[in-house]
Amino acid sequence: MKIIGTGSALPEKVVTNDMLAGFLDTSDSWITTRTGIHTRHLLSKETLGELAITAAQAAIESSGIAPEEIDYLICSNVANSYVSPSLGSILLAPLGCCCPCFDLNGACAGLIYSLDIADSFIKTGRAKNILIVAAEEPSRFCNWHERETSVLFGDGASALMVTEGEGFKDFRLTGDTHTDVLYYKRSLETTPFDRVEEKTMPLVMQGREVFKLAVRACIKDVDTVLEHNRLKGDDIDLYLLHQANLRIIDSIREHLEQPKEKFPTNLQNYGNTSSASIGILIDELSREGKLKDGMTLLLSAFGGGFVTGAALMKWSEIKYKDTANE
Ligand code: COA
Repeated sequence: MKIIGTGSALPEKVVTNDMLAGFLDTSDSWITTRTGIHTRHLLSKETLGELAITAAQAAIESSGIAPEEIDYLICSNVANSYVSPSLGSILLAPLGCCCPCFDLNGACAGLIYSLDIADSFIKTGRAKNILIVAAEEPSRFCNWHERETSVLFGDGASALMVTEGEGFKDFRLTGDTHTDVLYYKRSLETTPFDRVEEKTMPLVMQGREVFKLAVRACIKDVDTVLEHNRLKGDDIDLYLLHQANLRIIDSIREHLEQPKEKFPTNLQNYGNTSSASIGILIDELSREGKLKDGMTLLLSAFGGGFVTGAALMKWSEIKYKDTANE
């Protein structure tokens, strides 16, 4: 499987750390030193579906695949205002697609989970062209009276078109149960038989625990993929890591003893956009012409669960209309 099209979309509204300090007991210096985040884009006028459509249309257009040639749509999403239908099925008609679809909740590792499933579908001949859309609105799970979580996240969408090819070399996915460290709970309806009223619980996070789990898991995934493919850290051209916190990325980089230039980041501008983050990074780097033919890329992400995913791939350049990369 290889990537032949990319797209991303961010909400128009840019929220700075100083804007947050206007209503939360926080500061620009605390947020930037602890996380590296300066701004995030938050949904205000647009809907998540609209963002997802913009990202998906860009991926379709750059791939040269017609919407009706898409065999499957996989939508990575943790939560949105619809529990049913799936976000994937909401996207189909506006995109002009008529194919099977499903939503996948792999938390912030959802894009890598989606890529792994797409790779299996393509290998078994179940599908040839697959559109993966990762669309997330974590700002809508946060408690905006609480400074611990709300400063970390941003909304956004990314999309990748994949098809048969020689790009992806290896995947490693893991899962484990650590519910208490990171969760968002929504209330369900009561029934005549179960009248216990559950309350919606905005995102609860034990930051330090998540930090440690994330660094440990990412290092294990990256080391395992390198070892499995008889590669050294030096053999990787770029490490595309989940954009949650600059200190998490730095800890992994220090373990690998690799230079900063190999770890491109955009969390400074967007915060943690959950499973959309790596796709947004890929789309930006690719459109800026920074992903060259034959580059070896290692993707790695972690998220609530606790789940993780890593992927090793060789990049093939994509030609975009109206960009420097054309
Ligand atoms: N502004 C100002 N102070 C804040 C704050 C904020 N937004 N959030 C927390 N604090 C305070 C805490 O209350 C604490 O105060 P105290 O020392 O008086 O008790 C102090 O800052 C230090 O808190 P601590 O939790 O130890 O900070 P930290 O260095 O671990 O950084 C995180 C906190 C959340 C930035 C960090 O733990 C982290 O990034 N964890 C991973 C989160 C993540 O990536 N989640 C998504 C996973 S997909």
